[in-house]
Amino acid sequence: MERVEPALVPQRKLSNGMVIPGIGMGTFGNDRFSPEQTAEAVYGAIKAGYRLFDCAAAYGNEKDIGKVFGQAFSKGIVQREELTIMSKVWNDMHGKGDVLVACATSLRELGLDYLDIYMVHWPFPNYHAPGAHLDGRNPDAVPFSVEEYMRTWRQMERLVDMGLVRSIGMSNMTITKLEQILPLCRIRPTVLEVEMNPTFQQPKLFEYCKAHDILPIAFSPMGSPCRPERDTEEGDVVTFELPELMEIAKAHHCHPALICMKWAVQRGHVPIPFSIYENEYIGNLKTVTEDFLTDEEMEVLRRADKNTRLIKGKVFLWEGAKDWRDIWDRED
Ligand SMILES: NC(=O)c1ccc[n+]([C@@H]2O[C@H](COP(=O)([O-])OP(=O)(O)OC[C@H]3O[C@@H](n4cnc5c(N)ncnc54)[C@H](OP(=O)(O)O)[C@@H]3O)[C@@H](O)[C@H]2O)c1
Repeated sequence: MERVEPALVPQRKLSNGMVIPGIGMGTFGNDRFSPEQTAEAVYGAIKAGYRLFDCAAAYGNEKDIGKVFGQAFSKGIVQREELTIMSKVWNDMHGKGDVLVACATSLRELGLDYLDIYMVHWPFPNYHAPGAHLDGRNPDAVPFSVEEYMRTWRQMERLVDMGLVRSIGMSNMTITKLEQILPLCRIRPTVLEVEMNPTFQQPKLFEYCKAHDILPIAFSPMGSPCRPERDTEEGDVVTFELPELMEIAKAHHCHPALICMKWAVQRGHVPIPFSIYENEYIGNLKTVTEDFLTDEEMEVLRRADKNTRLIKGKVFLWEGAKDWRDIWDRED
């Protein structure tokens, strides 16, 4: 197997001094791949030189991923301290005392005694039963509330105090929500995980994060071509088919996927692409260490932004919400 020397991968410094890799691997099987398949890819990715992994309780595979972490440690392929492991508290565990239980469960399943980064997955306690109708609304779903979020965040802060997590982060937030929450934080988020790809660049949120010393982590960095049906809508753009991206990929003799990776890392946010295929995940890592995009190419891509969100989160809508744009404070 080809290996990329981890020292060649760009590194990013967090506001609390931690240093993490500038690219990682996602672990959500998009309802297409089994926990075993994803875990096997994580094992391969560690051998290939990946040092950052984006996990979550909601992905239903932390136990399997924990097994391969254990194998990698016991075989001496990597040491725990060399990995940056992230996980997230799911929406049904925001209640009093629940965040500690959720974190302890993720730690047990992943076979770890600390997490590097623990995030609040969504800023609502809303969730959907598996298999529920796409347009169905959960009658218990509620809109964002500062009080509810801060109750969850206070528990996140305690996890740092307890030494169970090295830093805490947020996900799926907007500037509107951050403006309300950041002044209330005793321990501020080091990262914000949101959708970012060449067709949905979120320039205002990116600049906001920079100004507040929060590192953006980009989910769906390739435009999630295989996302679950619940996140698709007629008329959605196909990131890989963005003409400017295709043109630049042609000039670099590579798949548009690799240009998405170069663009992300050169822009300065951290992409966490998912793939279970060895050639793809090794390619995604290797490409950020060589054959860089020129300033002109970066500018062409910047101007190609379509401002079209792919992961809309419709299943988290509450009764009375107009449409999915309410989840994002109609900022798009
Ligand atoms: N915080 C959140 O709410 C949230 C939401 C969504 C995702 N995430 C995280 O972000 C990660 C990535 O997001 P994602 O899976 O939605 O989207 P993505 O990484 O943009 O897209 C993944 C898909 O891209 C294709 N791909 C990957 N590398 C490729 C390559 N080198 N060449 C060609 N095609 C390639 C693969 O398709 P094939 O399988 O067909 O090859 C793969 O299934 C997830 O695994 C998860 O960890 C977080």
